[in-house]
Amino acid sequence: MTPSPVTVTVTGAAGQIGYALLFRIASGQLIGPDTPINLKLLEIPKAVTAAEGTAMELTDCAFPLLRSIDVTDDARRAFDGTNVALLVGARPRTQGMERGDLLEANGGIFKPQGEAINAGAAEDVRVLAVGNPANTNALITQAHAPDVPAERFTAMTRLDHNRALAQLAAKLDVGVNDIRKLAIWGNHSATQYPDLFHAEVGGKNAAEQVEQSWLADEFIPTVAKRGAAIIEARGASSAASAANAAIDHVHTWVNGTAEGDWTSAGVVSDGSYGVPEGLISSFPVTARDGRYEIVQGLDIDPFSRERIDASVAELTEERDTVRRLGYI
Ligand code: NAD
Ligand code: LMR
Repeated sequence: MTPSPVTVTVTGAAGQIGYALLFRIASGQLIGPDTPINLKLLEIPKAVTAAEGTAMELTDCAFPLLRSIDVTDDARRAFDGTNVALLVGARPRTQGMERGDLLEANGGIFKPQGEAINAGAAEDVRVLAVGNPANTNALITQAHAPDVPAERFTAMTRLDHNRALAQLAAKLDVGVNDIRKLAIWGNHSATQYPDLFHAEVGGKNAAEQVEQSWLADEFIPTVAKRGAAIIEARGASSAASAANAAIDHVHTWVNGTAEGDWTSAGVVSDGSYGVPEGLISSFPVTARDGRYEIVQGLDIDPFSRERIDASVAELTEERDTVRRLGYI
């Protein structure tokens, strides 16, 4: 029996991540190879024509699973009946812009999108904020959708997770599939903490297989500053790898994590590991029965504690700023 169609909304559809993302969604990689897809593309008015161009290309691929494409600049229409909302469109930081200005500009985008999700999304809606600052944008969206369970709002740190997997695999000359239980904690920013202390490679502790100096002076900064390194090299922020991570995040959410493994996602804190309740912070998470759950009971050593606390302090500051601005 063919599964019911899933409606997927992508904001910022005419942007570079949108272009790398939409064809993969339409080909069945987001949910599964048999699930029909209805796409809704949200853009700002001046980019609607460009999004329509992408929609023409999607049509021209003749994807068997793609049932419909709706391009709009109306958030209510874009989120009406949506099952999966990928919030990619955001205001990038421009020269002279302070962090507070960025948070303010994005508050103006994510507040109405939260309201539109609250008004019309499907009962089972799952929301992923990709647009930066992703954790706080997810928080703003969630604050404006009080009728949707808070656990449905997530922020993307899967790209950081994948970056960490790739760095560790290269260091130990293993495949990424040989690595288990790696985790990203905190904010999707340079303060994030990629944690190897619970990770296993070939069944043995990963941190014990690398020098402490490599871990502290190479691995952590390389992963945490990878976004900036890509901007420097490419002259534009990561796009295909970000789209890939968004696909991974939703696919895992729907289809589950492998037995004995976990992944990383920004989810609403329940107070675990001293992260203030309600903040959207990255944790090690498992996915079961369509839900992300924070892995419980891990011992946090002092080295990790200090780094998790620093990233969570940044998230707390971001939350306080958007609170002051009246966005939550
Ligand atoms: P881009 O500038 O190429 O595209 C952004 C698109 O969003 C533009 O087409 C713009 O018109 C649209 N947009 C702006 N405001 C909108 C609104 N209110 N509604 C709908 N659309 C709107 O940017 P990109 O490279 O696609 O990146 C998008 C975002 O993703 C950026 O904020 C970037 O920093 C972030 N990002 C996050 C991660 C992550 O790991 N979380 C990784 C890479 C990039
Ligand atoms: C990334 O991690 O590649 C992006 O979040 C960087 C950015 O600032 O867009």
